[in-house]
Amino acid sequence: MSKFGLLSLLAVAALHGETGYDAWLRYAPLQGAALDQVRQAVPAVVAVLDQSPVAASARAELIRGLKGMLGRTLRAESALPGESAILVGTVDQIRRAAPRLLPDVRLGADAFWLKSAANGPLRYTIITASNDRGLLYGAFALLRTIAIGETIAGLDQRETPYAPVRWLNHWDNLNGTIERGYGGRSIFWDGGKVREDLSRVGDYGRLLASLGINGCSINNVNADLKILTPELAPQIARIADELRPWGVQVAISVDFGSPQRMGGLSTFDPLDPAVAEWWKARADDIYRAVPDLAGFVMKTDSEGRVGPSAYGRTHADAANAVARALKPHGGLLFYRGFVYDNHMDWRNLKNDRGRAAWDNFHSLDGKFDDNAIIQIKNGPIDFQVREPASPLFGALEKTNQVVELQITQEYFGQAKHNVFLVPYWKETLDFDMHAKGAAPTPVKALVAGKTFERTSGGFVGVSNVGLDDNWSGNQLSQANLYGFGRLAWNPDLSSKRIADEWTRLTFGLDPKVVDTISTMQLSTWRTYENYTGPLGLQTLTDIVGDHYSVNVEASERNGWGQWHRADETGAGMDRTVATGTGFIGQYRPEVAKVYESLESCPDDLLLFLHHVPYTYKLHSGKTVIQYIYDSHYEGADAVAGYARQWKALKDLVDERRYSEILTQLQYQAGQAIVWRDAVNTWFQKASKIDDAKGRVGHYPGRTEAESMTLQGYTVRPIAPAPEEDASGGKIVTCPAGATPCSATMQFDGPAGWYTVSVEYFDLATGVSQYRVFVGEQLIDEWSADLRLPSRRMDAGASTRRVMAGVALRRGDQIRIEGKPGGNEPAPLDYIEILPDKM
Ligand code: GCU
Repeated sequence: MSKFGLLSLLAVAALHGETGYDAWLRYAPLQGAALDQVRQAVPAVVAVLDQSPVAASARAELIRGLKGMLGRTLRAESALPGESAILVGTVDQIRRAAPRLLPDVRLGADAFWLKSAANGPLRYTIITASNDRGLLYGAFALLRTIAIGETIAGLDQRETPYAPVRWLNHWDNLNGTIERGYGGRSIFWDGGKVREDLSRVGDYGRLLASLGINGCSINNVNADLKILTPELAPQIARIADELRPWGVQVAISVDFGSPQRMGGLSTFDPLDPAVAEWWKARADDIYRAVPDLAGFVMKTDSEGRVGPSAYGRTHADAANAVARALKPHGGLLFYRGFVYDNHMDWRNLKNDRGRAAWDNFHSLDGKFDDNAIIQIKNGPIDFQVREPASPLFGALEKTNQVVELQITQEYFGQAKHNVFLVPYWKETLDFDMHAKGAAPTPVKALVAGKTFERTSGGFVGVSNVGLDDNWSGNQLSQANLYGFGRLAWNPDLSSKRIADEWTRLTFGLDPKVVDTISTMQLSTWRTYENYTGPLGLQTLTDIVGDHYSVNVEASERNGWGQWHRADETGAGMDRTVATGTGFIGQYRPEVAKVYESLESCPDDLLLFLHHVPYTYKLHSGKTVIQYIYDSHYEGADAVAGYARQWKALKDLVDERRYSEILTQLQYQAGQAIVWRDAVNTWFQKASKIDDAKGRVGHYPGRTEAESMTLQGYTVRPIAPAPEEDASGGKIVTCPAGATPCSATMQFDGPAGWYTVSVEYFDLATGVSQYRVFVGEQLIDEWSADLRLPSRRMDAGASTRRVMAGVALRRGDQIRIEGKPGGNEPAPLDYIEILPDKM
């Protein structure tokens, strides 16, 4: 193909589809008034006085961004030019070049100041800071201001990051897989080594820098012992080289047992001098390869990881032994507060995993070295759809802490459901722990070290990024990485501001687009909670399996401690001091008082903190059981609404992202119905109380596959999956090798336009083919090839195919043909035929 041919092909491709790779740094061309306004304000020169590689990134970014948005290529200079310019330099550098342009201000580390200034007829847009990272952050802030359509005239914007630690953790394994990763394979690792091609890593660094993220651990907290072997050090250095120009420092996760398990010592006792020496030597080695390594992350005594309990030592002993090895290099040790026993006796009503973080750490307050930081998950359990803030945040006064938030959507639909997590995170960050006197002490201030004047602290997010074109497996899930970064920089930003910014940067400035996406995003957490675990039940998912599929009972009768204790009489964990596990007593008295009493306990946390009968009345007057039913219907209806609202954006969003998101929302709408029906069926059976609105157990227009006329298909129970995973508890499957099997029914409604939905199962183990006929006319066909986690027939595999606008009349024969593929026997659950919704 000629060069011209290729170029025009690329141009057409750009029109039709964006992959999502550019995320919120698309720098799409501005139009109309927005363009005119900025063209007038932007000069022809960008002068960068700082010579560092990070400042070079700032220059390149400014040129790239302005070229994209304005169609103009600025001239790069490295000294103060004799014409108007964007001027980038530290306060000292600018004052040396032109003392009158700036006052002698002191800016904190990584802070920046965007300032319009004039010198006679010359106009400057100044980006200044005290260090090179601040310059880079300022450059990104200026570009963001332009891209979201705000004015850059008369700039005077000073921003200081809220906390020094703004980090990501990757749970990437050295073999290239990612624990709880849903955006493809690791961008760092493959086959036990650092990947040859690290071009994605540099691009990732750029995304992180645009948010002010300054550290990133690159391997799973369930750490591979190999990470500390000498062969890997130069490879880790290659990753650090890619991220360094973006001001992002690399960290690694290490296994506490390493001195013995890979180092050849007879012990890993943290108080053994040989062990301390070993850690020191390994730290020295890795710092030789990566002198600016940010530090280590360590998970101990949790989920099979060894820890100090092996020697009767404390977590402070463990943390300090490793922190002291890092200290001479300026490194930090992030010691995870996620320590609990996963073999607890579920029969003992006083046992409570929720207590574990506080029980393990609060009495050690003050015993940790200054470069050790306790990393605490937002809630006391494990990233469930709703949890109160961990009481440990309010209990550490003389210890550094960070909050750990999970960006990757493990319990939030694994990037197949769209859930914007910023409002969820903000609920924790803004929660007042009443930790010191009368003034508010929200979690954000505690972790940032502001409340008790700690030396370090901040925010850590578990990243959701992989090799997928769009980084995170779902275009809309990118908003969570964006949102985490913005909150880590400034947790006082509102959820709405963050959703708006992200939407404008990612999809453009059309008001209808911005309003639709932003409004949807802001409601998604409540929607997801409504169908997966309302009232503090936690996420009613398969906690012993994929953490994705609905499975109400999976939490119970095992040692994992994610108990909700729903049974025939009622639901909820009694965590009161009076009669329960005493967990509530871990909070400061002002908080404990609110949670302990049923009158003041918020409904959203009721079943997390109390056990009540199903007939218990919420503050709204509704019973618990009716709320469970209603919220599941509301949740499922809301997702169906998202898909409808999205359709109204056709032609306003590029074709590729439009259709990817539509597919995702339609899939989610189907899964929300699966959740709705499974949870409601379970609770109806347990409580023996019917839905006052008569919906549960009655599904208009639904015909079970097992009651259709079957050819080749055989009926079987959904077991071993729970009965409620399939409508009516049964499914039909087609034996391997059979020619297409079929299930046929006769339509007996009046003539009209109908939506026909087929509920089938899409397993990770094969790809079946389905065809739907009305009479002999083929009306739809598809392959069951979605990337879903289920390897067996269960609710997580249950998938809905929707055919809208089908003309039907009484007596029509509707036939579904299924052809097995691989180990997937073309399973069917039911067909549902409802009048078309306008
Ligand atoms: C969750 C998650 C694990 C992870 C753990 C952790 O339990 O399911 O995959 O290792 O959290 O945070 O350490």
